[in-house]
Amino acid sequence: MQRLAGQVAIVTGGAQGIGGATARRLAEEGASVLIADIDDEAAERNVQTIRAAGGTAAAIHADVGRHADIRAMVDEAVRRWGKLTILVNNAYSPVGENRDGSAVEVSEEGWDRALAVLMKSVFLGVKYAVPAMEAAGGGAIVNVASVHGLLMAPRSLVYEAGKSAVIGMTRQMALDFGPRGIRVNAVCPGHIVTERIQAAMWAENPSGLRFFEQQYALRRCGRPVDIANAIVFLCSDEAAFITGHALVVDGGLSIQLQENLGVHLAHYIQEHPETRLPY
Ligand SMILES: NC(=O)c1ccc[n+]([C@@H]2O[C@H](COP(=O)([O-])OP(=O)(O)OC[C@H]3O[C@@H](n4cnc5c(N)ncnc54)[C@H](O)[C@@H]3O)[C@@H](O)[C@H]2O)c1
Repeated sequence: MQRLAGQVAIVTGGAQGIGGATARRLAEEGASVLIADIDDEAAERNVQTIRAAGGTAAAIHADVGRHADIRAMVDEAVRRWGKLTILVNNAYSPVGENRDGSAVEVSEEGWDRALAVLMKSVFLGVKYAVPAMEAAGGGAIVNVASVHGLLMAPRSLVYEAGKSAVIGMTRQMALDFGPRGIRVNAVCPGHIVTERIQAAMWAENPSGLRFFEQQYALRRCGRPVDIANAIVFLCSDEAAFITGHALVVDGGLSIQLQENLGVHLAHYIQEHPETRLPY
């Protein structure tokens, strides 16, 4: 039985990667899915994939760094399918964005630009989705955070700040909108080998990926569908009593004592001297 039959969903950044897999899984479970993305070609390809599998989907060009685009995507879902019941705030490209630097190094413009997408888009998405969900009798919002919202990496102020904020906003918003029948949760993925990450990081360095996988209890990194499945669960009635939760989906990356991990990785390098470190 389809778990989301009759639901109407928006997935920001739903053209590819985690959002792409999420759009496909939501549609497989019976939701009508609006893909809101800046990459029109990839969005259209994903729409066609969903339709070919018997699902219902459409795309809208929306830059979630722009207030007007966020309002327009909510209006479009309601115009097309009469309501909105699911919002997945996912859009952001870890590949190609310049998010590196400490507070001393990051420029004010870089901070403003990245945080508009990482953080403000969640605020504005929820601002417009909630009245529509209320009119529909309730809904579910899932914000895509990261293990980077829980564990800090050096020289990554912008991303760590944005993802930490997403977790805090999720908990705060769950309080405000629970009484209106709207649940708000987050997922915190570990490293997910998306199409773009595979091309940018691993295609030419498979030994680096094998090394990276050693940090995971399950000895593998994630696939987009691993996160999509968690999001489907959080949107479904099976999660009807779950709100304000940040679900870590990281194959056991974040449960380990760092000292033991360091020793394990040192042994691994000794045994695999051909390893080329990822960075
Ligand atoms: N891949 C990982 O390892 C990983 C781990 C943890 C969290 N995340 C988070 O998951 C989300 C998706 O990451 P991904 O790796 O699937 O990325 P991706 O680059 O594979 O896909 C991101 C999609 O978002 C779209 N997008 C980017 N900026 C946008 C904007 N301003 N407005 C609308 N669409 C926009 C892109 O066009 C693309 O289709 C991000 O929030 C990211 O921070 C990713």
